[in-house]
Amino acid sequence: MSSKTGTTPRTLSILAALAFLIAATVAGSSLATASSGSSRAADQKADARPLVIGHRGASGYRPEHTLASYELAARMGADYIEPDLVSTADGVLVARHENEIGGTTDVAEHTEFASRRTTKTIDGVAITGWFTEDFTLAELKTLRAKERIPAIRQENTIYDGRFPVPTFQEVIDLSKRLSRELRRPIGIYPETKHPTYFRSLGLPLEEPLVRTLRNNDLDRRNAKVFVQSFEVSNLKALNSQLRVPLVQLLGAPSTKPWDVAAAGGATTYGDMATPAGLAETATYADGVGPSKDYIVPRDPATGASLAPTSFVDDAHAAGLQVHPYTFRNENTFLPAELRSSANPADWGDAISEYEQFFRLGVDGVFSDQPDTAVEARAGL
Ligand code: G3P
Ligand code: CA
Repeated sequence: MSSKTGTTPRTLSILAALAFLIAATVAGSSLATASSGSSRAADQKADARPLVIGHRGASGYRPEHTLASYELAARMGADYIEPDLVSTADGVLVARHENEIGGTTDVAEHTEFASRRTTKTIDGVAITGWFTEDFTLAELKTLRAKERIPAIRQENTIYDGRFPVPTFQEVIDLSKRLSRELRRPIGIYPETKHPTYFRSLGLPLEEPLVRTLRNNDLDRRNAKVFVQSFEVSNLKALNSQLRVPLVQLLGAPSTKPWDVAAAGGATTYGDMATPAGLAETATYADGVGPSKDYIVPRDPATGASLAPTSFVDDAHAAGLQVHPYTFRNENTFLPAELRSSANPADWGDAISEYEQFFRLGVDGVFSDQPDTAVEARAGL
């Protein structure tokens, strides 16, 4: 939350909650979405419609985290494009979902890099493969992206081998070019990936992130930028460095943010999702990015949707925007009642899922098929 006004974050959080309650009392709960969120976050959402965030670009149609994927997302109507950020060996931020790149590039076909295959422990998990921090940017640029889930997204595989790994700066350059061409602002929604791990390597993500945003005149209250993280401590630090809104991502309820776990802390994501936890989150963040299950849980036995929780209302009461992840058209990602067949790759009734979450008052959606999200939003 804003630390630039002289008012304490806690006070602002309480004021935001009071504003929400007054608006809801006066005009009914339908105003909850429009009146929620801090002023920093509200700057990002002037038209009050739920935001469509192109998740890893338009990753339902192109290999994720490529300029082609981001460009398609913008052309499909996404308000924001979402790069996950990791570091190269020479400290350049690049867009990859993970620092392990065996699953999303052709690195395994590059015999010159065979010796770099190794096993590392990332956030407590042993992972074998090739890692961005072991490649200079020049080396990484010799690789080409490939589809992460070819069994589900076979059509995307025709684009394998075509697109390089983009830098964060190249993503920003693309957003600026498309903003001019499409005559509407295309925002960026960067995520710091494994920030504690990268800092331990001497390759921190936050300094180049802040530097890059400032170099591009994007560290402004009305810049179309959100910064997100699954960790807590780096968001708290960024809150005093950046003017743009911050989003706390929430992973599985029983797990802890890695920085919390590494410091011996006890707080789980589930704790952070309670009203008290959300009020605490609002002292440094402007929004939360929960997995969809926090809002509409699923029966673990059948995969069918259960009754919605009070999460959206609780987060709004704390003054937080709510941007759940991840909306995908394929049956395998949909609740049982919306699947169209037993084929996991077939598309099901994704529109109904968006509509349910829009009715519940979410402020934005991370979507792999932004055109579907835009179509669902058009019905509001
Ligand atoms: O950042 C929102 C969503 O992308 C979080 O999950 O693992 O896809 O980055 P992940
Ligand atoms: Ca992400």
